[in-house]
Amino acid sequence: MDIHISAGDFSIFVADTLIIGLFEDAPDNPPLVALEGALGGEIARLRALNDFGGEFNATLTLYPGNMIPAGRVVVVGLGKADAMNPARATEAMATAVKAADGLGAKQVATPAPAPAGGREVMVAEAMVVGSKLALYRYDRFKTFGEMVDKPVNIEALTMVVAEGDAVEPIATAAAAGAAIADAVALARDLQNAPGGHMPPEALSDHALAMCARAGVEARTLGPNEMAELKMGALLGVAQGSAEEPRMIVMDYRPDGASTGTVAICGKGVTFDTGGISLKPGLNMGDMKFDMSGAAATIGIIQAVAALKLPLRVVGIVAAVENMPDGRAVKPGDVLTAMNGKTIEVDNTDAEGRLVLADALCYAQEFAPDAIVDMATLTGAVIIALGHQATGLMGTNAELNRRVSAAGDFTGERVWELPLWDEYEENIKGKTADINNTGGRPAGTINGGMFLKHFAGEVPWCHLDIAGTAWNVTEKSHIGPGGTGVGVRLITRLLREWAGPPQSG
Ligand code: BES
Ligand code: MN
Ligand code: ZN
Repeated sequence: MDIHISAGDFSIFVADTLIIGLFEDAPDNPPLVALEGALGGEIARLRALNDFGGEFNATLTLYPGNMIPAGRVVVVGLGKADAMNPARATEAMATAVKAADGLGAKQVATPAPAPAGGREVMVAEAMVVGSKLALYRYDRFKTFGEMVDKPVNIEALTMVVAEGDAVEPIATAAAAGAAIADAVALARDLQNAPGGHMPPEALSDHALAMCARAGVEARTLGPNEMAELKMGALLGVAQGSAEEPRMIVMDYRPDGASTGTVAICGKGVTFDTGGISLKPGLNMGDMKFDMSGAAATIGIIQAVAALKLPLRVVGIVAAVENMPDGRAVKPGDVLTAMNGKTIEVDNTDAEGRLVLADALCYAQEFAPDAIVDMATLTGAVIIALGHQATGLMGTNAELNRRVSAAGDFTGERVWELPLWDEYEENIKGKTADINNTGGRPAGTINGGMFLKHFAGEVPWCHLDIAGTAWNVTEKSHIGPGGTGVGVRLITRLLREWAGPPQSG
């Protein structure tokens, strides 16, 4: 879908479909008033009849006949005005775009938010994010024969800026929104790809290709370099697979001054069978999503490069496949991570923390100011938080607070779990320093406690996205399959981290 910005009277804009938002309680805004005038009071009548009150995410289609050029008007409820924020703007816009697309709309127009002290820019960006995410499909393997999932109808969305209002800030915001949505779509494409199509090497190829397009320096470590660096934990997981592991390093450096360095580490288990501690067969296919942290990391690097953030961001992806095999690591085996700590493998299915251990050690080589990791690490986080929030654990209250604020802003919410010293007991090793499971109680925290051993002294935050990375209760901007979670969240964090946007 193309995004256009245009100036003029929204109500008489030439498009097949207009989208207009309606608050439950706020006075009608100028584009709505103009549309009302053109439609002869249609919306006021709806309100009076109580047929449509602007409830959040409710939609209604009007057919204005010959009164305006547009053939239909999709009205979307925005809920209470003081509850409106970028996350809700994304969702409501996605709802409206989905409704319009379902009706076969091709050319869609909506009013750009009116000037509101800079806030309009965030809302405009969020609207574009929602519009694009609503139309995301993973249809690479669909032949569109008889059993068709309808392809997307909408070709273009125009945001109409009122005569006299500034076009430039809205255009900039729309471009940022498009860049972020494209980064989410990239992450979703990588997630949704079947395990057989996305082994570590393929994931690495995709990351390197993205970096080449975006002008980001990138390289990949193979098993030999990993062995030289003594990445014994990651190599232990990889040894059961016919596919070679890859450590993908994407090093985004700003052109001008830099406000610091943040490292992002992603779990990239391209397929998780559980290894010798084999998973049950039911829904095992879902484990193609076990590289969702990696997918988000790659998406984030694409987004920060597009947004030209004045901050160095190093994306590190530990890509391996977890397979049962004659050479596979066995329960009871001991592995030595890059920092020299020894790990007893209680369960080969707790492989994510093993590959991340070496990624976290390696991240410190870049002397970052902070490290954030993202991983589909534990089923237990789904028991704790369901699909509504990502589990957050970390060593630095300020970093945790910033991530949490970014979650509220984008709607990719996180919820903190403690990393108290008392939990250390759970992961004490019998024959090695630590074990990789910790038992069933506090399963998600045990994962966090384990990773903490490899984060060193750098402020670090771990995001367990096992509950939010896929199959989330469907929302207007999140379809079935991979959600791309983490891209919007961490891109927001990094923009805040980088400081206010430079003028000009
Ligand atoms: N990739 C899984 C986590 C997972 C499980 C994500 C279910 C989504 C749904 C991870 O590698 C894993 O298997 N974790 C184990 C850890 C346990 C053995 C300590 C788990 O959660 O059962
Ligand atoms: Mn596993
Ligand atoms: Zn896993």
